Parts: sequence; C-alpha cells; structure tokens
Amino acid sequence: MTLQPPSLKTIPQHVALIMDGNGRWAEANGKSRIEGHREGAQSVRAVLRAAANLGVKVVTVYAFSTENWKRPPSEIEGLMKLFIESLNTYEEELHNSQIRLRIMGQIERLPAPVRKRIEKAMRQTEHYSAHTLVIALSYGARTEITHATQQIAQAVANGTLQPSDISEEHITNNLYLPDIPDPELMIRTSGELRLSNFMLWQLSYAEIVVTDTLWPDFREPQFYEALKEFNHRKRRFGALDSTKGSS
Ligand code: FPP
Repeated sequence: MTLQPPSLKTIPQHVALIMDGNGRWAEANGKSRIEGHREGAQSVRAVLRAAANLGVKVVTVYAFSTENWKRPPSEIEGLMKLFIESLNTYEEELHNSQIRLRIMGQIERLPAPVRKRIEKAMRQTEHYSAHTLVIALSYGARTEITHATQQIAQAVANGTLQPSDISEEHITNNLYLPDIPDPELMIRTSGELRLSNFMLWQLSYAEIVVTDTLWPDFREPQFYEALKEFNHRKRRFGALDSTKGSS
C-alpha cells in the first residue's frame, strides 16, 4: 500500500538525518547488531521514497562517522558488507526516482570493494539532477573543517589569498560538497540530543527534530511527521521577523 504524503506548505530542499538506534532496536528485538543495521538500511530506502514523493531535493544520511572506526572489527566489517549490499538494493530506487548518489567523507579510508561499488553507483547516477542522496561515510565535521582550513592556509602561503580576505564562502567552498545547499532540517532518531560531529558548519541555521523512534522503525509516516513539525517552526535566522537574514 502506498502512503499518501501530507500536503505541506514548505518542503525543505535538503534534509539531513542522524540514523541512531540500530543497536538498541536489535537488542529490543533479540537480533544481532548487524541485523539492526540491515533493518536500518531499509529505513533509508523508505525515507528516500518519501522524500522523492514530497519533492525534497537532497537527503543526507550519516552512515558511518570517523569515530565509528573505533567499533569492534566484526561490526565494522559487517557494516562495510552492508554498504555494498545496500547500494545493490537501492539501485532500483535511485534510477526510478532519478536520484544522484554522492559521498561525503574520507572515501580513501574505505576498503577497496566498498570504494569500487560506490564509484560505480556514482558514475551510473551522475546524470540525474532531480534528487540527490548524500551518504556521509567515514565522515566527521571537524576533519572536514580542518581539511578546508588546510586548503585555505595553502592559498595564503601561495600568496593567492590575504588572511583578511578569508570569508565564510571560502570555508563553504572548501568543504567536501560545496555545491550542496545547507540542510534546512536535521532529524535525529532514538532520542539523543547531540550533533555527534555531523555537518557542524552546514547545520548552523537548520531546524532540528529529534524523535524517540529508533532508526529501523523510522519509515514514511515518521518522516512525514518530522516534516509536519518542521512546518510548525518559525524560522527567523536571528532576525525579528520571518525575513531571511542569513542561512
Ligand atoms: C547508528 O546506530 C547507526 C550506524 C552507526 C550505522 C548506520 C548505517 C545504516 C543504517 C546502514 C545504511 C546504509 C547505507 C548504505 C546508507 P547505533 O549502532 O549507534 O545504535 P545504538 O546507539 O542503538 O547502539
């Protein structure tokens, strides 16, 4: 049965998601952690479908952080296999809804088979412009900002940039995906009130919706609820009325 999307006044262009709670879902359902992640991968598919139905242009999912490399090797290995498996299952969705796949993070740290599968999916979808799925993989915002700072410092050292000319645009332009607009909405599942090193620069003006739902239980209805909540927020960007001062 296809669920009808709600009619909403404002559809965010870019929704970013911290997919938390796979482990807790597994424990509550008597399953292994990797089974929790596998069920979570189905939620990504459901959210992609819902977002495409509503006309959200960009969806970013936090699939693996720089800190996740500290997890037990067996879980890391299971997740890497799952990323390959998931890209195989998402393929149909990517083509049907004309979704371009992009990756944000230290792609060079990923095992070669994962890199190859990602590169293939990116190549096969690079001509799509209607929607974009960004997977944050081996991603950390502090590493991203440090990397941007190094590039800017290099331009100063080369004499092509004066320190006093460094602007916010220079930092934005040296992040991993400078052409992607900032998320207007960030959803975090499983109730934790943290940013966990996720898109610290880009989320400056985002509305944050935290739900107690564990990620594997987060499907179309929960995504629509989060968008309804976003529609109830008054976005003022630091100004006194609804005039957009900066974003
Ligand atoms: C956090 O839950 C989740 C992750 C670290 C992995 C998320 C990955 C997926 C959902 C697979 C998606 C695949 C693609 C290709 C996008 P947790 O393990 O920290 O949960 P816990 O806090 O309950 O232990």
